[in-house]
Amino acid sequence: MRLLGIETSCDETAAAIVEDGIKILSNEIASQVDIHARYGGIVPEVASRQHTLSIIPIISSAMTQAKTTWQDLDAIAVTTGPGLAGSLLTGVNTAKAISFAHGLPLIGVNHLEGHIYANWLAEVLPEFPLVCLIVSGGHSDLVLMRGHGDYTLLGRTRDDAAGEAFDKAARLLGLGYPGGPAIEKAAATGKDIIPLPRAWLKGTSDFSFSGIKTALLRLVEEGKIANPADGAASFQAALVEVLVTKTIAVAQEHRVRQIILCGGVAANKTLRQTFLAQSPLPVLIPPMILCTDNAAMIAACGYFRFRAGKISDLSLDVVPNLKMA
Ligand code: KG4
Ligand code: ZN
Repeated sequence: MRLLGIETSCDETAAAIVEDGIKILSNEIASQVDIHARYGGIVPEVASRQHTLSIIPIISSAMTQAKTTWQDLDAIAVTTGPGLAGSLLTGVNTAKAISFAHGLPLIGVNHLEGHIYANWLAEVLPEFPLVCLIVSGGHSDLVLMRGHGDYTLLGRTRDDAAGEAFDKAARLLGLGYPGGPAIEKAAATGKDIIPLPRAWLKGTSDFSFSGIKTALLRLVEEGKIANPADGAASFQAALVEVLVTKTIAVAQEHRVRQIILCGGVAANKTLRQTFLAQSPLPVLIPPMILCTDNAAMIAACGYFRFRAGKISDLSLDVVPNLKMA
């Protein structure tokens, strides 16, 4: 089965063709990062306009790259939320138009479920039961999966998401936007020598990252961080330690076979290496390009939803605060 995936939830316009939920035939991404960098963050209206400009060229290029015609497609999967309403609308309306014009089944996909399914596009396929750590710009969730589409939320952040914390810390340290990659780059030349608090929230699998951020703010204001690279290295070390320790603990508690990672923060090399070095359980991490927003993960997730009979109709709408079912 061949699916076209469309993703426009935030600031990447993306389209991909994926076969049987596991094989990428094309994966095209038009990033708006340079445009939003001028403002120091995402401007929703600017994002919507860019999606409108890029969506058709990016779909066209994904089809060409995959040597795929409309007749070769079996279905279309599109992100319906969570995300920015104006951004999501471009993808959903385009998917509906294609579905209507070519009589193709339409599948609405939750962006976070999409992130999880990036793991089915890597070389080693995940095995259930597993614990998934989702670390993106808006979420830090620990999810137990016993099968496809079977999610139990075990833990979540009580305040900032991990990616949001990276972005805020980068701003405090004057390292620019987007924050995650900026912190990672600066940390490579710095030392983990600044003491920052870790919120363990013992007895729960929840996270809290606002305390680390506030501690960093205070140190910056007091002029105690002479080298921003040391601030970046110390901040990254604190976040990674909490994410790795708590994820391994919950995975062992639930006696799962594997840990899988996903979301933009899973692109962080220190996080990846620390997981692989410290986990007694196998850890699967998608290639970096599949951790950050892309449409191949949406097509992969769409395939497994399609197989489960979860097909949408043309009344499909965007849900900016969509929760995982
Ligand atoms: O999953 P994603 O691309 O979009 C959302 O669904 O939110 O995640 C974006 C987040 C941003 O906060 C970004 O700073 C962070 O992922 N990120 C990173 C890295 N690359 C992206 N954080 C740490 N290290 C990275 N290399
Ligand atoms: Zn995302």
